[in-house]
Amino acid sequence: MKIGLLGCGTVGGALVALLDQEGDRLARLLGEPLEIGRILVRDPEKERVAPISKDLLTTQLSDVIDDGEIGLVVELLGPGDFALGAIRAALGAKKSVVTANKEILSTHFLELELAAEAASRDIFFEAAVAGGIPLIRALRVSLFGERLSRIVGIVNGTTNYILTKMQEEHISLDTALAEAQQLGYAEADPSGDLSGRDAASKLAIIASIAFGSHVDVEDVNVDGIWGITPSDFDFAERSGGVIKLLAQAERDIDDPDAPIRVEVFPAIVMSTHPLASVRGSFNAVFVEGSAVGQLMFSGPGAGGLPTASAVLADIIDAIKNLRTSTRASMSMVTDTRFVEDSSID
Ligand code: NAP
Ligand code: HSE
Repeated sequence: MKIGLLGCGTVGGALVALLDQEGDRLARLLGEPLEIGRILVRDPEKERVAPISKDLLTTQLSDVIDDGEIGLVVELLGPGDFALGAIRAALGAKKSVVTANKEILSTHFLELELAAEAASRDIFFEAAVAGGIPLIRALRVSLFGERLSRIVGIVNGTTNYILTKMQEEHISLDTALAEAQQLGYAEADPSGDLSGRDAASKLAIIASIAFGSHVDVEDVNVDGIWGITPSDFDFAERSGGVIKLLAQAERDIDDPDAPIRVEVFPAIVMSTHPLASVRGSFNAVFVEGSAVGQLMFSGPGAGGLPTASAVLADIIDAIKNLRTSTRASMSMVTDTRFVEDSSID
């Protein structure tokens, strides 16, 4: 069984490099090689970071979807209808899907989960939220038995990088953004990073899984970092804190009918709080559960290799499931009341 890779940019290129580096070790562990059968790109002539045989490249989605040897499609294209159509086509052709596409998941979560169920295949998306941090798995598997009340954290690496640089080095937003783009943290169109929309998409996915109730990105109250000025940083410093873009989802733990509150907003975080020390492109997420108490997950939240690491974990899970003809229910979303009545307190 081969892998069809859609997209070979920052994350796709890092994945190819990672498979190159770890392929032999993983083949020994898994008992079969992880082999890429085809790679879809826009421009086959473009220079790639990882060494790639030109024979693998195609500009036709059908070359991947119609290839009977490809059992797993890894979607790393970016936002938009083309990527959505590609995921639908892959599931329709009974291929499992791994994607890092928070934009699509935050608007088509239930549809794609149902399509995967109908195809008896997996759709996995660990890399869509918080880069290399295994947060989705933790919420879906390890914390399944918990009643979760609150999730709050930093889930956009680009804005955290920009805020850190503006605060500590007093450089302009534009200069810091250019660095974040250079380092592969920003989206192809970074306006979603800056406006808070990227964090809102991730929060919608996190909240859907954590609370088992569908949350759409449009349900999230969003404020980004566009308007933050040097005087805001001065004020934060004088107050003993730093500015962070926070994403927060809350639900009254004792009331199953309580609405979920979801918001993304810049805030002053006191220096004594652990989130204040999350710098650069790192992400960190606090999760509060009824029995476990408070947990904090932190690590690289953006960039090619950390994100590729999360994609690789999903690939391995999906392949194991294909071998045993099983699938994992990703969403645990059984309750769609929040969609029908999307009132936010
Ligand atoms: P990217 O560098 O812009 O790469 C996109 C790739 O998709 C390129 O190889 C491009 O081909 C290909 N592509 C785009 N549209 C296409 C089309 N219509 N037909 C054929 N090929 C097409 O993006 P990225 O940063 O790797 O991000 C990929 C996905 O991962 C996005 O959904 C992003 O939100 C998500 N993600 C990114 C990060 C990160 O840190 N970068 C982290 C987590 C999740 P060409 O190379 O020929 O142009
Ligand atoms: N642009 C995103 C970020 C990539 O900066 O967090 C990781 O999802």
